[in-house]
Order: sequence, then structure tokens, then C-alpha cells
Amino acid sequence: MKRRAFLHTGFAAGVLGAGAGTVGTVALPTFLGASPRRLAGGSVRLNSNENPLGISPSARHAILEGLDLANRYPGDSRTPVVEAVAQKHGVGTENLVMGAGSTEVLQMAVQMMGPDVQLVIADPTFEDVWRYATPWSLKVEKVPLLADYSHDLGRMRDIVRRWNGPSLVYVCNPNNPTATLTSSAAVDEWIESAPDNVFFLVDEAYYEYAESQPNYWSALKYVKTNPNVMVARTFSKIYAMAGLRLGYGVGHASMIEKIGFLASRNNANHLACVAAVASLEDDGLIERSVHSNAHAKKIVEDALDELGIERLPSYANFMMHRIKGDLADYRNRMAEQGWLVGRPFPPMLSYNRVSFSTPDDMERFAETLRDFRSRGWV
Ligand SMILES: Cc1ncc(COP(=O)(O)O)c(C=O)c1O
Repeated sequence: MKRRAFLHTGFAAGVLGAGAGTVGTVALPTFLGASPRRLAGGSVRLNSNENPLGISPSARHAILEGLDLANRYPGDSRTPVVEAVAQKHGVGTENLVMGAGSTEVLQMAVQMMGPDVQLVIADPTFEDVWRYATPWSLKVEKVPLLADYSHDLGRMRDIVRRWNGPSLVYVCNPNNPTATLTSSAAVDEWIESAPDNVFFLVDEAYYEYAESQPNYWSALKYVKTNPNVMVARTFSKIYAMAGLRLGYGVGHASMIEKIGFLASRNNANHLACVAAVASLEDDGLIERSVHSNAHAKKIVEDALDELGIERLPSYANFMMHRIKGDLADYRNRMAEQGWLVGRPFPPMLSYNRVSFSTPDDMERFAETLRDFRSRGWV
């Protein structure tokens, strides 16, 4: 589809059709009715693994009501969200540390471990832990993923064994950017046999997209017994709150007490807290997001298969697929068609990471892929 036509049927139609509305008794200004997934120029973001459905209507309502207390520090609004999260996971409030997104929790973990530690991560994996480790000059060991794109736990383990000191092991499961799984049984086996000086930071940012898989489960079961395990979760993905910034770490009370000193004071902001409580109470939210994502994923899978383009299995809200030629050219061509696709993820530079938007968007994205094929670009 030509860009002009795309704008006409896509962005413009979305905004013009939205208009002003109400949530409960609160009147929404027109701009709040804008599509949650398009940028001002009409581009669709397929580059940050965001949830295209937008925040829960009840979270929106809670935010509007919560504005009345935006002049206050968020201590009082923090307690209900901590209690609600504790209840959700069957842990105590002493097992939780909140963050401005789960990325702050990853940062705290690096800082808690200090400089004399070895960091062992997959390659490629989510970059933030490595980023936070960089100013500390930690020894960083990047271990290539296996052929099935799972973590090479055997090699990671060998590296840990050879190091004469504490290790921070980051397991991103499902892994970003590959959206692939590492067997939870294998992760369990390592956790259960590891000495105390191996700290496992298990990032489950995309947990809900994968929880139906038989070989996948959470590492949360260890947090009450093992002070060397922390699970990071977020409200950014399945709860669609990436712009509000709320995530948390779940761990043993003794470890959480220590790591809590590394959190910036009042990091969980008031509006994020009230939105999170409302989101947790929205019974259909997870199912809506999972269902829409599964539909969008199937559309992309079918299009890639039809065109014979190699793809990785996806257990999250994004997928990697092979490209032809240079990634920068591919991204620029996609951007010209209104699609912002993933950044480079070395060493996988012959792949693109595409985040799933709504099924409608992904139907149009599939059309773009077919168009690219007719031009010999994919
Ligand atoms: C695996 C993983 N962990 C953590 C994050 C950080 O998310 P946030 O700080 O929004 O919770 C992301 C964001 O994309 C991610 O992909």
C-alpha cells in the first residue's frame, strides 16, 4: 500500500474516528481518544515490544481520578499496589521491591552485586543489565544462544564454576530479542544445585505470553527459600503501561531488604500505582492482550511462511525473522511505509525483530512484506 493511502485508512481514520468520550463520569479530551499505537506522523511502532491495545479502561479511569492527588508524594498509593502484587504472587510485601519499570530492578541487582562480580548473560539478550554493569567494569561473559535460541546454560554454568568469586547470572525468559524460551526445568536444575555466591536474576517481563507452554514456568517458587534468586516482572508489557513506568522484583525478604536501599526514593509514581491496581483488578486484561497478540502473531507467521522467510518461534509479543541484505536498508524501507521495526541486535544482524501490533496492523504489515517481495527486498 502506498504511504498516502496507508495514512488515509490508518492513522487519519483512527484519530478522526476516535473523538471525545467518557470513562465513568469523567469526560475525556479528544486527544485521549487517539490511537494508542501510532506516532504523530502516522507511523506504527513495531520496535519496542509495547502492548498496542493501550491501558485498561479502568486504569485510565483510575489515572484521571488519581490526578487529584498528583501533588502528593506517592507513599499512600504505593501500599495498595504492593499489597495487590504480593497477593497475586502469594508472597509477602517484604518479598517485593518496586521499580520505575523493571529496568530499575535490573539496575539494582547489578549495583547490589558490586564491582568484584562476574556477569554472565546470553548473547543476544536484553541489553539493560549489561548497560548497567558497564560503568562498574564488571567482568562480563556473553554466552551465545544455542541453535534453538535457548540460553546455553551448560556453558554459562562452566563459566560460573571457573570464576573464583560471586557471579550474577541473568536469565531472560522468554528472551528478548529472540522471543524464545529456555527450559524452566533446566533453569530449576541449575538454581537448585548452585552455591550461594551465584545470584540468579530471572527476567520474566514477557511471562504471560509464554505461561501456557508446557516447558515454561516461573522461577517465583524459589523466592521464599533462596536468597540468591530474584524474579523481575513489569507492568509495561501485558498491562500496557510502558509509559507509566512500574515494575518490581520478587525475592527473599533478606535480599529485598538489602536491595531496597538501591531503589530511588518514591520511584513508583502515584499515577502508575493507581493504574496498576486498577489493571490487576481488570479480570479480562491479560486474556485480551494474550488473545490479540496470538492473533497478530499468527498473521505474521502465516505471511512469513507464505513468503518462505525464516522465522524464530515466538513466545512473546515480538518475533525475529530473516531479512535479505542490510538491516539499515530494511528498516528505512519499512519506515517509509510507516512501520518502525526493531533496532540491530548484534550478532543477529541478518534478522529483524518485529513487535506485534493489533491484528489489523499486522495484516497491513503482511501486505508490506508481500509488496517487498514483489520488489525483491525480502
Ligand atoms: C526482557 C525485558 N526486561 C525488562 C524490560 C524493561 O521493561 P520496563 O522497564 O518497561 O519494565 C524490557 C523492555 O523491553 C525487556 O524486554
